[in-house]
Amino acid sequence: MRDFRHAAAAALEAGADGVEIHAANGYLIHQFSFRTMPTNARMATGVRSRIEFASRSRWPQESPRKIGGERTGIIISPGNPLNDILEEDVDDLYSVLLRALSPLGLAYLNVVHGGNEYLIDAIRRDWESPLLLNRRGADLETRIHDVESGLADVITVGTQTLANPDLVERIKNGSPLNEPDRTTFYGGDERGYIDYPTMEEIRYPSYQS
Ligand SMILES: Cc1cc2nc3c(=O)[nH]c(=O)nc-3n(C[C@H](O)[C@H](O)[C@H](O)COP(=O)(O)O)c2cc1C
Repeated sequence: MRDFRHAAAAALEAGADGVEIHAANGYLIHQFSFRTMPTNARMATGVRSRIEFASRSRWPQESPRKIGGERTGIIISPGNPLNDILEEDVDDLYSVLLRALSPLGLAYLNVVHGGNEYLIDAIRRDWESPLLLNRRGADLETRIHDVESGLADVITVGTQTLANPDLVERIKNGSPLNEPDRTTFYGGDERGYIDYPTMEEIRYPSYQS
């Protein structure tokens, strides 16, 4: 718990506007705070009640306590089986979590879509501050529709941002997108991270930004 406070304060000292608590995608908080099997073996035999979960959900309070809720966001991935996470009672689980988060006045909630449309609808209804949504792997039109339909306030875009250094310009202009090269993901060297061309560089190959 102390680490959360320390990390949040250090981030601000280093010039960040705020921090995001990563409670998604099978990383540590997700593993140990939520019902997870088989990643978290000690949960495999236990039956976890709502009360038990509520007591474990103290961690989100640490960063806001140190730097203020308005400087803290959180990312969750309800029902998303990333990294072998297996959540049961996903509706109950996240409803308890959101209730615990609500009084903290967080800057935003960032949700990695797990395919449960009704769950995202429920989160939208219950959550008051801005809702960010990542509809994993979906095309941009579908994502933009999430904002137009009011389901999300903001969409987040991972892979296509990596592959298109001028993504915003391309969206504005309706330009085609570079194809992400999956063989360069998650490691290796600089290839696939800093060498995708902008539209300008494609049109005028000698152009250097
Ligand atoms: C190269 C690469 C590295 C990533 N690293 C992380 C990571 O460290 N932690 C994480 O939670 N998600 C990570 N992601 C997942 C993205 O944040 C995002 O959830 C995923 O790409 C799906 O969204 P998209 O369809 O917008 O790309 C990574 C994705 C890519 C392509």
